[in-house]
Amino acid sequence: MTSRILVLISGNGSNLQAIIDACKSPDYPGEVVGVISNVADVYGLTRAANENIDHSVLSHRDFSSREEYDNALIKLIDSYQADVIVLAGFMRILTETFVNTFAGKLLNIHPSLLPKYQGLNTHQKAIEAGDTTHGVSVHFVTEELDGGPVILQAKVPVFETDTVQVLASRVHEQEHRIYPLVVKWFCSGRLKMQGDAVILDGEVLPASGYASE
Ligand code: GAR
Repeated sequence: MTSRILVLISGNGSNLQAIIDACKSPDYPGEVVGVISNVADVYGLTRAANENIDHSVLSHRDFSSREEYDNALIKLIDSYQADVIVLAGFMRILTETFVNTFAGKLLNIHPSLLPKYQGLNTHQKAIEAGDTTHGVSVHFVTEELDGGPVILQAKVPVFETDTVQVLASRVHEQEHRIYPLVVKWFCSGRLKMQGDAVILDGEVLPASGYASE
């Protein structure tokens, strides 16, 4: 059975595109049934339109509190009857109610090797710290911001000459590989969150996710 994937974005949507493209493969166990953005006129919405995927904008500016916004978002999400909710550059801090409503079926991608560099400007932080390795994490979302259990990470080298842009694009390349893979695992029923642990094929994964060293 094909799983219903709902993607939440705030911007360019290159991860959304990677997931849409992966879904075109005949053996992919999911399809993107909708895209929601909290920002109007972003390129991710154009990507959805180009692929004839249902898309809508729910602007946080139209609500007076985080709780009101998230409650409206929960209602909108419910209308899609999604099996998995994929945050792909959705730049919002989520309320406890939101996270609890979708616990276990809420995935996020974050451009750092979590638990390092939660929050914004992760590439800048890695360069400033003199890190020689940086990367990206896909994780289940829990109440802790960028803190849920890690499913899969990809590492990239950091070179002395790297600018934020160069490093970000190196990380992006990896994002586009690992996010469709994790969503595939989830859609095929191989991946679950149990308490604060990630289970893949019945095995509990280590804290840094699958294939950690
Ligand atoms: C990605 O780099 C993703 O890891 C990051 O936003 C970018 C969205 O790019 N997410 C976060 O920083 C979440 N804390 P995209 O719109 O091209 O997919």
